[in-house]
Amino acid sequence: MDELSRRKMLLAGGTLGALGVLGAASPARAGSAWSWAASGSVAGSGAGSDPHSVWDEEIDRIVSDVIERGDVPKVNQLLRTWTRNDQPLPDGLPADLREFMDTARQLPTWADQGKLDTAARFNKTKGIYVGALYGLGSGLMSTAIPREARAVYYSKGGADMKDRIAKTAKLGYDVGDLDAYQPRGSMQVTAVKTRLVHAAVRHLLPQSPGWSGTSGGQKIPISQADILVTWHSLPTFVMRKMLEWKVRVSPAESAAYLHVWQVTAHLLGVRDEYVPATWDAANAQSKQLLDPVLGRTPEGVKLTDVLLDIVAEIDGGLSRPLVSAFARYTLGDRVGDLIELSDEPFWEPVIRRAWPLLVAFREGLIPLPLVPEAAWTMEEAIRRFVLLFLSEGKPISIEIPDANRPS
Ligand code: HEM
Repeated sequence: MDELSRRKMLLAGGTLGALGVLGAASPARAGSAWSWAASGSVAGSGAGSDPHSVWDEEIDRIVSDVIERGDVPKVNQLLRTWTRNDQPLPDGLPADLREFMDTARQLPTWADQGKLDTAARFNKTKGIYVGALYGLGSGLMSTAIPREARAVYYSKGGADMKDRIAKTAKLGYDVGDLDAYQPRGSMQVTAVKTRLVHAAVRHLLPQSPGWSGTSGGQKIPISQADILVTWHSLPTFVMRKMLEWKVRVSPAESAAYLHVWQVTAHLLGVRDEYVPATWDAANAQSKQLLDPVLGRTPEGVKLTDVLLDIVAEIDGGLSRPLVSAFARYTLGDRVGDLIELSDEPFWEPVIRRAWPLLVAFREGLIPLPLVPEAAWTMEEAIRRFVLLFLSEGKPISIEIPDANRPS
């Protein structure tokens, strides 16, 4: 789908998917021993090694060689032309990188096209919730995940958050696209490119004094455990909130939404033995990995502020209080306080009252007259927040970094 029609769809209330991920994360080490059972994974069994000490060995080595040889600009230029799932890789890539990517782009044997199609339809029909939750839930939660906040802050993208959000948003809407994992879609491309970016970050961040000084002893960022933490801030959190909000989700839709993210985890390089097979397994893993690591860092607080400043660009600051209050409503006071979201005495009670009514109306549970006017203001602000990052009119290309944030 081209950028224009993508934006039209968003305007029409479709895949709000954007903004998601915003970051990527990982936290201060959870402390307790790894006890999540691989029998609950899509692989059904595993070696049981602690994912805090597992990275992505082969591609980490290949990308680190690309960086050291000074080949990043050339590789990025070639990869700009690689945009569709069914497209051959461009000629001219280093042979080892090409070989790796040709394998990495394949869907796992356990991918189920029927479930992926159901998930795509679900992402469309529930786009407003999914988009709001990716952008103002998961996205801002990433700043309360210390390892993620620091990795983002000290990496190259940390210096240009608007660009970074646009790139991260790409994964958010590609994953929610009707064609996500169809031949003409682009999610395999986006996930594999992201895997390369993460490999580059593993090579680069240890050279950043800012990162090394705050990493709490972690020598290489973005372990498999870290990726799982971020993963739970996405689908696990989003599904939990949708259920809390009483959005109608059928068992087939729920399973399909999990599935699209299982496939995504696989394509991002997470070993199948760590990818939860069911929501129960996912919730148990999230409890072990995500819950204990949420925390405050100066980097996370700064990133939150930058993000909300970007929001203020939409309308000279008018919607910043509303967006901040909506994020607090979505994330809860504990996380809201960790990232120093402002208290909004006007908007917070309004949102607490109006949002459930808006959801109930959208889900066909109450008639229109019961929806207060404020709900539409809120919905409009959320849409604009997401669209801001899609309206630059330039194609978004995820690129391998070759440097850290300038100090
Ligand atoms: C880059 C998604 C996990 C740190 C990216 C990008 C995407 C993405 C789409 C490309 C955007 C860009 O280039 O700016 C994800 C997803 C994750 C995940 C879906 C897990 C499900 C993590 C984790 C960390 C992390 C766990 C760190 C602890 C970064 C950094 C960049 C990046 C530092 C590059 C920033 C730069 O441009 O320098 N991620 N990520 N990510 N991610 Fe992740």
